[in-house]
Amino acid sequence: MVEIRLLSKLATASQRQGASERKTRVYTPVHEGVSTEATQLLTAEVEFGKKSISVAPMLDWTDRHCRFFLRLLSKHLLLYTEMITVGAIIHGDRHRHLAFNPSEHPVALQLGGSDPIQLAECALIGEDYGYDEINLNVGCPSDRVQSGRFGACLMAEPDLVAECIAAMKAKVSIPVTVKSRIGIDHQDSYDELAYFVRQIEKAGCDQLIVHARKAWLHGLSPKENREIPPLNYPWVYQLKRDFPGLPIVLNGGVTDLDQAAEHLKFVDGVMIGRAAYHNSYMLAAVDQYFFNGTLAIRSREDIIADLIPYVQEQARLGVAVKHITRHLLGLFQGVAGGKRWRRFLSDHSHLVDADYTVLLGALAYTQHT
Ligand SMILES: Cc1cc2nc3c(=O)[nH]c(=O)nc-3n(C[C@H](O)[C@H](O)[C@H](O)COP(=O)(O)O)c2cc1C
Repeated sequence: MVEIRLLSKLATASQRQGASERKTRVYTPVHEGVSTEATQLLTAEVEFGKKSISVAPMLDWTDRHCRFFLRLLSKHLLLYTEMITVGAIIHGDRHRHLAFNPSEHPVALQLGGSDPIQLAECALIGEDYGYDEINLNVGCPSDRVQSGRFGACLMAEPDLVAECIAAMKAKVSIPVTVKSRIGIDHQDSYDELAYFVRQIEKAGCDQLIVHARKAWLHGLSPKENREIPPLNYPWVYQLKRDFPGLPIVLNGGVTDLDQAAEHLKFVDGVMIGRAAYHNSYMLAAVDQYFFNGTLAIRSREDIIADLIPYVQEQARLGVAVKHITRHLLGLFQGVAGGKRWRRFLSDHSHLVDADYTVLLGALAYTQHT
C-alpha cells in the first residue's frame, strides 16, 4: 500500500526536482520577535542578513546528499557545506568537493584556511560554483586543523582573520561570513571576544555565527568540546547589542524550534547542528513555524517520495544508496517505528544490489506491529 502511494508520487516528484534552480543571493527572513505561539505569514524575500534558521556545517555529515535531503524538509533553511580546506580545493578533486544540486540553494560554502591569497582564490571559485555565501571556519578545535593554522586557533589572530576576510571580500560579491567560538583556552574574556568581532566587522565581515562555547585547543577532543565547557548564550546576545550593525547568529545546544524562536528575540539567526541531523524531521516544521503559517507540514512519506528520484539519479551516476540513506536515520527519531526504520536501512543499504527500494522496505517496516 505504502509502496503504491509512493510510486504514484514519483512522477510528480521528479518533475519538481530541478525546477527550483536559483542563483540569487536573497534570503527569506524569520519574523522579528517571533513568539513560540506565533506562526506568521511571511513569504517576502529580503536581503541577506535578516533573520535566518540554518543547519550547521558538519564534517562528514552535511555533504551534498545530506543537504539535498534537508532541503526537502524546508525551503527556507540556510544550509552549509562541511568545512572544505583551501588545499582540497586548490590541489584536490575540486569538483567532487564543490559540486552541488541546484535545489540546495540557499547554500553556503565553509572554507578552512588562513592564507588570505588562497582563501580569496577559493572564495572566488566558490562564487563561480554558485554558492550563496562564503563562510570562514574559526571554530574547529581539532589537532589536524590547528597544525594547518586554521579553525579555532585563528581566534588568537584577529588581525590575520581580518586580512583573510578583506582578501575574500575584495574578490567576491556574495556575503563573506565567519563562524567562531566565544573564546579559546585562556583567551576567554568578553573584551577579547569583542575585540575579535570588532576587527572582523571592520574588515567587512557580513555576518558572524557564534558557537556559544569556548574552544579548548588542548586536552579535549572536538567531540568533548561540543559539550564542555558550558554554553554562554548571554555573551552572544551581548554581541548583538554591542554590534547592532553586524548580523549575529547563535549556535550551540539548540534542540527544538521553540528554543530557536526564543533565541531569535535576541539575535538575527539560529544555527542548529546535531539535533538537525539526529532528529531531522523537526526541520519539516521550520517553514510553517517561522515563514508561512499556512504551509502544511510535509509527511515523512512525501519526503521519501521526493527523495527517490534523486536516489535513482545518483545511482545512474554510480553513487551507492548507502551514501544517501546514512543521512536519513534520524527521520523517524522519537516516533513509533523509528528503531525499525534505522535498523532496516542499516541492514540493507550496504548490500551490493541495494537501490531505492530499501527506502520503500524501510518505510513499510516502520509500520510493522
Ligand atoms: C560531526 C560534526 C562535524 C562538525 N564539523 C564542523 C565543520 O566542518 N565546521 C564547523 O564550523 N563546525 C563543525 N562542527 C560543529 C557544528 O557546526 C556546531 O558548531 C556544533 O555541533 C554545535 O552546534 P549544536 O550544539 O547545534 O550541534 C561539527 C559538529 C559535528 C557534530
